[in-house]
Amino acid sequence: MRERIQFYWKRIREGRLKEMISQTIWIYAYVRKYWLSILIYTGIGLVGTGTSLVTSFLSKDLVDIVTQHRASELVKTFVMYVVFTMVNIVLSQLLDYISAMICIRVDNEIKADIFEKMLLTRLEPLMSYHTGDLLTRWSSDASNISNGVLNWVPNLVINFSKFLSALAVVLYYDPLFALLAIAGMPVSLIMSKTLLSRMQSRNKESAALSARMMGFNQETFSNIQTIKAFDLIPLYVRTLRQYQKDFWNLKKKYEKLGIVISVFMSFVGLAVSYSCYGLGVYRVWTGAISYGTMTLFLSMSGTLTGTLNSLISMVPSAIGITTSAGRLIDILGMPREDYSEHDYVEKFYRRNQDVGLCLTIRNMSYAYYNGNQIFENTEFSARPHEIVALVGPSGEGKTTLLRIILALLEPQEGCLEICAEGRENDKVKYSPSIRQLFSYVPQGNTMFSGTIAENMRNVKPEASDEEIMECLKVACAWEFIEKLPDGINSRIGERGGGFSEGQAQRLSIARALMKKSPILLMDEATSALDVETERRILKNIMKDEYPRTCIVTTHRPSVLTICGKVYAIRDRQCHVLGREQIEEMINA
Ligand SMILES: Nc1ncnc2c1ncn2[C@@H]1O[C@H](COP(=O)(O)OP(=O)(O)OP(=O)(O)O)[C@@H](O)[C@H]1O
Ligand SMILES: [Mg+2]
Repeated sequence: MRERIQFYWKRIREGRLKEMISQTIWIYAYVRKYWLSILIYTGIGLVGTGTSLVTSFLSKDLVDIVTQHRASELVKTFVMYVVFTMVNIVLSQLLDYISAMICIRVDNEIKADIFEKMLLTRLEPLMSYHTGDLLTRWSSDASNISNGVLNWVPNLVINFSKFLSALAVVLYYDPLFALLAIAGMPVSLIMSKTLLSRMQSRNKESAALSARMMGFNQETFSNIQTIKAFDLIPLYVRTLRQYQKDFWNLKKKYEKLGIVISVFMSFVGLAVSYSCYGLGVYRVWTGAISYGTMTLFLSMSGTLTGTLNSLISMVPSAIGITTSAGRLIDILGMPREDYSEHDYVEKFYRRNQDVGLCLTIRNMSYAYYNGNQIFENTEFSARPHEIVALVGPSGEGKTTLLRIILALLEPQEGCLEICAEGRENDKVKYSPSIRQLFSYVPQGNTMFSGTIAENMRNVKPEASDEEIMECLKVACAWEFIEKLPDGINSRIGERGGGFSEGQAQRLSIARALMKKSPILLMDEATSALDVETERRILKNIMKDEYPRTCIVTTHRPSVLTICGKVYAIRDRQCHVLGREQIEEMINA
């Protein structure tokens, strides 16, 4: 027997309970800041328990005064009854107000913190989640926690005090009545246990399904053009309906059980209250209690069943909250980026901004999480005042190399180094902090919605209109912007909406130039432009005195004539191409 108990205790400790405890501790870290408000909330709740008990006694007295014709006490008791009822109303409104305030503040706290932590999480593990899933976790799961946070200790204390005080009153007057009033308790417990075990698995299932649905919706709305062009509207509507059907089936399974249990519980509750009522009437009939005491009994039996149900319903709510906490912990548990070198890198840059920076990669090997090996013992280097081109077939690893250079991906082997030109010993350790040394023009359209000027000021908040125009001119974007009625205050839609692909590329280049960093990375940044504009932009970029190191990826041989060095990515290596090979590519 002892072994069996030990076995179950071990399972509880190692299993869901242990998980729930650590999730509760995690939630507590967000809530503890508001301990004073929570204490006030609990205090008001306890005062409310006291005043509603007094109201029940006053109501009992009132009935006794009326039935016993004690006219002299009537007005005083009635006035007190009204006053206490009012106090109860005010207290319950106050409780609602404080609870809403605490919930909103905890909600903001959790969401802001998780938002920041998600952004700081390393890119690769984060990329394995769909953005819809991340969004659901950030919004729904965080709200679940903040809305249910008061169900923790405060409501437990308040409901328990209500339950105990009602039980004490009834026990004082009539123990048999107390026994009857809580007769439904074992049934409630058994039922809630059944409901509970179903809930645990359903909670996870429904959260996963909601996340999938959110991802689907998000992708649909951001790809409406493609869906229309491929005539996919019926397919997408059908898919949504299927998701809804799956959700409904999941809910139905759980709701069915819930309804059966709640009908059963209502019958049990009815039987309990009728028995209480019967016993009360019998006691009045035999003269053991007054009419007033019977009213008190009935109101107390209501309180007992009500608070008991509230206490029991806290368990599923606790499970819901901890499940949500678990889903957030999954995300927050992923490795985070380290920006601790930020100030050091900043000083390094200030020291060396007049000479420019060299980038060297040695012996570098990189494979994605799924085992896809992209580089093996490869070497690469770039110096100021030169354009280094990366060429190679699609899917060979050009973008991946730029991500590695940006410290977005971490190679499994090898060494990356940034040092000052001509000062080889002045270098920085490679970490996410080195990103301040880079400007990046990503592949594809990455402008944010807002005006052109807002997009430019995202990277340099203090930029004047003249500076913005200057960068737009270097990127050959001014020629179409000056024709727009609102100039640099023209609006850009989502993902560069309202502009052609080539125009959006030029805006993206201007944004990168706005940052004026010593190393500029351009990933197919000019692929949508005509050859003439492309060359003009690259020449413009390199013609100023600023010692810029420029790395571009391209499929266009025409660009290669103005590049100082060309690397071809093949066989998981970066090969430097000789003049002849470059000529061959240009003439091919
Ligand atoms: N997140 C990822 N997880 C796993 N593999 C990836 C991931 N992103 C890219 N890859 C793989 O890495 C390889 C290199 O991709 P990359 O985007 O670097 O190619 P690329 O040379 O830039 O191609 P393109 O010229 O088409 O832009 C591809 O085979 C691709 O399948
Ligand atoms: Mg690419």
